[in-house]
Parts: sequence; C-alpha cells; structure tokens
Amino acid sequence: MTASIALPHVIRVGSGASAELAGTLDSFGLSRPLVVTDPFVAGQPFFQEILDLLKKAGLSPGVFTETVPDPTTAVVDEALRALREGGFDSLVAVGGGSPIDTAKAVALLGAHGGRIRDYRAPVVTDAPALPVVAVPTTAGSGSECTRYSIVTDAETGEKMFCTGLAMLPRAALVDFELTMGMPRRLTADTGVHALTHAIEAFVSARANPVSDGLAREAMRTIFAHLRTVYADPGDREAREAVMVGATQAGMAFSNSGVALVHGMSRPVSAHFGVAHGLANAMLLPAVTEFSVPSAPARYADCARAMGLAASDSTDGEATGALVWELRLLYQELEVPTPRGYGIEAERWWELAPLMAEQALASGSPADNPRVPTAEEIVELYHYVYG
Ligand SMILES: NC(=O)c1ccc[n+]([C@@H]2O[C@H](COP(=O)([O-])OP(=O)(O)OC[C@H]3O[C@@H](n4cnc5c(N)ncnc54)[C@H](O)[C@@H]3O)[C@@H](O)[C@H]2O)c1
Ligand SMILES: [Fe+2]
Repeated sequence: MTASIALPHVIRVGSGASAELAGTLDSFGLSRPLVVTDPFVAGQPFFQEILDLLKKAGLSPGVFTETVPDPTTAVVDEALRALREGGFDSLVAVGGGSPIDTAKAVALLGAHGGRIRDYRAPVVTDAPALPVVAVPTTAGSGSECTRYSIVTDAETGEKMFCTGLAMLPRAALVDFELTMGMPRRLTADTGVHALTHAIEAFVSARANPVSDGLAREAMRTIFAHLRTVYADPGDREAREAVMVGATQAGMAFSNSGVALVHGMSRPVSAHFGVAHGLANAMLLPAVTEFSVPSAPARYADCARAMGLAASDSTDGEATGALVWELRLLYQELEVPTPRGYGIEAERWWELAPLMAEQALASGSPADNPRVPTAEEIVELYHYVYG
C-alpha cells in the first residue's frame, strides 16, 4: 500500500512569520487577497498590523470579518459574494480553524462553482481552488496544513466534510506570537484537540511512516508543554512549542486520518453547540481506554513518544501510563465533562443513539484501531457524561 503525502508549498514558522504575508503572496504572483477572519480576531492589534503591512507593500486587500465558530453555509455564501464582487485573486485566513475552513470553502466555490453540498465526502476534490494563505491564531486545529474543510449546512445542521487537495492551503504562516493572548480555557481545549489529532493520526488505520514521524513529534511537543501554557500563558517557549506541535499534528492527520474521537465529537458539537476542540477534549481519555486493547503496541508507542514510559517498558506498562496520564492532564487542565459543561442528562441520553449513528456514518470510527458497534458508542457517550 502506498501513502499520498501533500503539504502546503510553503510553511513559514516562528516569531514574526505573519509579517511575511505580503512577500509570500508576491512570491505566488498574488496581489488582491480577500482577508477572512472573525469579529474577535478583527479587533486584535495584530490583525490591524497584518493589514497595515499588506497595504504598505502596495497590496489592496479586502476584508471579510463575519466568520462564525464552526462555519456555516450561510457565512460561506456571504464571503463568496464578497470575493466575487471584489474581484480578488486569493484568500488569506487569519484566525482559528473556523476562519481558515471558511476561506478554504470560499476558495473552492470561487474556483469550481456550485454549493458546498456538492463537494462533501465521499467526493474528493483535488483540482486546485483559489490560493489560500493561512495564518493561524490558535494552536489547535492544524487546518493551516490540512486538506479538509468542515462546513455546517445552515438549513439541516449537517456537518459537511470536504476533502481533497483543493482544500490544502498554498502557504501557512505559523507565528506563535498571535496565540500569546489566548485565554486559558481556549488554550487548554485547542491544545488537547491538537494532541487528539496527533494520537488519532498515529493509531489510524491509514497511518504511514511519514505521518507517524510527524505525529510522534507532535505528541511529544504538545504533551511536554501544554500544562505550562495553561498555568503560565505568557511562557513564550511553551507557546511556540505547542503552536509548532499543533501544526505538525495537522500535517500528520491530513496525511493519515482521524478516528473515533472525531467521529463521536462531531455530533456532540452539532447537537449541543460544544466547540470542536472542547468536544474532542471531552472524549479523548475514555475513547483511548476503550481502544487500547485492539492496538496495544501503537498506543504504547504514543506513551513512549510523550515521555510517559521508558523505551524498554512493556506495552502493558506503557498503555496503563497513557490512560492514567491523560486523565491526570484533564484534571489539571480542568476539562469539563458534558455534565460539567451544563448539558442536561435527559437530552444527552435521548440523543446518544442518534449521535452514535451519526458518528458511524461519518466514517472516522472505521479507521479506529477498535471499530465500535453503535451500542458501544452509546455506552461510551454514557460513560463520558460525568
Ligand atoms: N480543516 C481541518 O483540518 C480542521 C481540523 C480541526 C478542526 N477544524 C475546524 O476548526 C474549527 C475550530 O478551530 P479552533 O479551535 O482553532 O477555533 P475557532 O476558529 O472556532 O475559534 C474559537 C474562538 O477563539 C477565538 N480566537 C481565535 N484566535 C484567538 C486568539 N489568538 N486569542 C483569543 N481568542 C482567539 C475566536 O475568535 C473564537 O471565538 C472548527 O470549525 C473545526 O471544525 C478544521
Ligand atoms: Fe479536529
């Protein structure tokens, strides 16, 4: 079996990378970008600086600031209108995974026409879309380096998963300085989300030697620094490490896949409005514990990569340490359970069978080391409720 690896043409990493936007666009012959962001990011001083630098370089960017968390078709349509009216040649996404996914969807429709529904999985769109330069401001989604975009149908609530090289940004500017102001809750949830990407990329049935290397390094880096950024948000070294780790995790799962945690988290976001990062965070330890018996050697390697077990430890010792340490991490990061988040027990029980069906339909659980039945997924939902 062969693996097909794809990454952005350019990834600029480090303090000040976002200031290289004008030069990056110029290197691709682009001069009329539509900058896509959300209202919060639009109000940040760093956003104004990015725009000022573009203008100083003689570019005339347009700005669309109305993206929403977990983007919807309505917002994509609105941004698409702005793209067409302004005659832009490219998109720049500044923000977390939501603005980045919005820009990718707009780039797709801008080049190929139609509606997002036409491109949802199992359709794979490899023909190039408009170029996207992604400038992440969270250390979480990894979307700056992935071939995916997830858009919710504003009418049906369905989360549509679009995949293919059309969704892969042309360039990513990974500047941890933009994450320095993230509040603690967002830092924890996006950080655990990135750790989930790395672990799932590693245990996925579609893992390969290239994604393994990226996933191992991402697990090591994120795990080593996540407690520090939570306890001390101003720690620059730790912020940089988690940011780079999140991007590596994105590269890993874009070239491998995600598994049961993501399969189960999407319905939780769709039905209860829980942010994607947090919904994954709620599920990771329980799903890991459930899955370990089917791939003890792979999970033991995760534990070793994260420094939780010695290189000569047995798989049993290492997987035991992994499950234990993930639970400890959760306590320290104060990750809420669905109950702690305020979700009503009755509603959770009532929707669990439907969520299990939707999780299975997404296809992600099929790549999990232990492929669950619908009943087992329902049991897991009950178990994590808290
Ligand atoms: N395409 C992919 O490969 C992929 C992978 C994982 C997740 N996603 C998608 O990404 C989205 C989640 O992305 P996310 O977790 O990065 O969050 P997000 O983009 O939804 O943003 C969450 C919140 O954080 C705020 N925020 C962003 N940057 C900030 C900063 N520097 N300081 C303070 N606040 C800041 C935003 O304004 C928003 O309120 C979901 O829509 C999910 O479906 C996509
Ligand atoms: Fe994710």
